[in-house]
Amino acid sequence: SSHGSMELERTLVIIKPDGLLGNYTDDIKRTIVEYSFSIFKERIVQLDEATVEKFYAEHSSKCFFSRLKKYMTSGPVLVMVLEKENAIADWRALMGPTDASKAKITHPHSIRAKCGLDIERNCVHGSDSPKSAQREIPFFFKELSSDVVAEHDEL
Ligand code: TYD
Ligand code: MG
Repeated sequence: SSHGSMELERTLVIIKPDGLLGNYTDDIKRTIVEYSFSIFKERIVQLDEATVEKFYAEHSSKCFFSRLKKYMTSGPVLVMVLEKENAIADWRALMGPTDASKAKITHPHSIRAKCGLDIERNCVHGSDSPKSAQREIPFFFKELSSDVVAEHDEL
């Protein structure tokens, strides 16, 4: 903006089934608040295979895809839109690397190190770029589709 402050940004976060069932939600929400994110939207959803296929379409040809579908449909997930300055990159940093077993060594304070198990069961998701966030947020929160269009129109 003209005042030199950074714009608020939104990212899509998912607490995956083992995170929700394993009672990591309160811990993760404490971290969210501690790092000055606000929870703009949240809802609990039971995903089905077709929804996971669509959400993770970029990985459809990977060898781990069927295991990913099984994991993501194994119980309800908590989907959230988090908001803060630089939310996308800051959440990725807080969440840690994809492989939770490696994160335990290289990023021991990350969320995946604390809550995840391995590269498949890594407990949390976060949008990896502004483009991904623009797709992923209205994927779960249809009511936010118009925001995305409005931002597009300004460009
Ligand atoms: P990816 O987008 O590479 O990771 P991230 O979640 O850090 O953006 O992969 C999406 C999910 O797919 C990942 O969170 C867990 C799963 N996955 C596996 O099960 N095995 C793998 O080898 C990879 C790379 C990912
Ligand atoms: Mg990814």
